[in-house]
Amino acid sequence: MLGFLLSLLIANPIIINTNIEPNCKVVKCVALTYDDGPHSTLTPKLLDLVEKKYSSYNIRLTFFVQGHLVMKNKGIVQRIAKGGHELGNHTWAHEYLTQLDSSGIQKTLQKTQQILFSLTGSYPTIFRPPGGHSDQFVRSNTSLREVMWDIDTRDWDHRNRWRTLAIIKNQLKPNSIILLHDIHAESVEASPYIFETLHKSGYKMVTVSHLLKFR
Ligand code: NI
Repeated sequence: MLGFLLSLLIANPIIINTNIEPNCKVVKCVALTYDDGPHSTLTPKLLDLVEKKYSSYNIRLTFFVQGHLVMKNKGIVQRIAKGGHELGNHTWAHEYLTQLDSSGIQKTLQKTQQILFSLTGSYPTIFRPPGGHSDQFVRSNTSLREVMWDIDTRDWDHRNRWRTLAIIKNQLKPNSIILLHDIHAESVEASPYIFETLHKSGYKMVTVSHLLKFR
């Protein structure tokens, strides 16, 4: 019996949790946010990088997703949630909220909230308005916290991984929120370089909601 217990202990060593969320007042943090997905192949590729090649970095990402793409990529959304990453609301189909009336704003955000809740068991607490188009009227029609960004990589525009990396390097400051898009291959290809650069500079990559607790 004792031998059996001992062999169990040896086979299952106690794993020390190295995953404690960093105190961003003490260590340098940054939030990488990926908009407009999920994408059926690129988003899993990004998650593979985080979970396999860069697992020792304990990277946590934030995904501002479109509801209609969530519908088509349910397993990916569940994988995002299970991986400890954050899901944010980016409307149902990338509607510009400043062009909608009160019920239109509420409908596109609520529909996206519901599908995310049905898949993950929790509601997002943050939204990012498509195109960054927002105003007081938009904000007054939702209880979600609006999250913009500090560093706009313009990755969707130039589609160049080196330019994406250079923009981040040039503008990087502790507690920055960085805007990227996981629907473009070049942005996912830039990500290993971004992870390595941030890690070497002593930055922890945390979810946007975690980072916002410190600013
Ligand atoms: Ni967008």
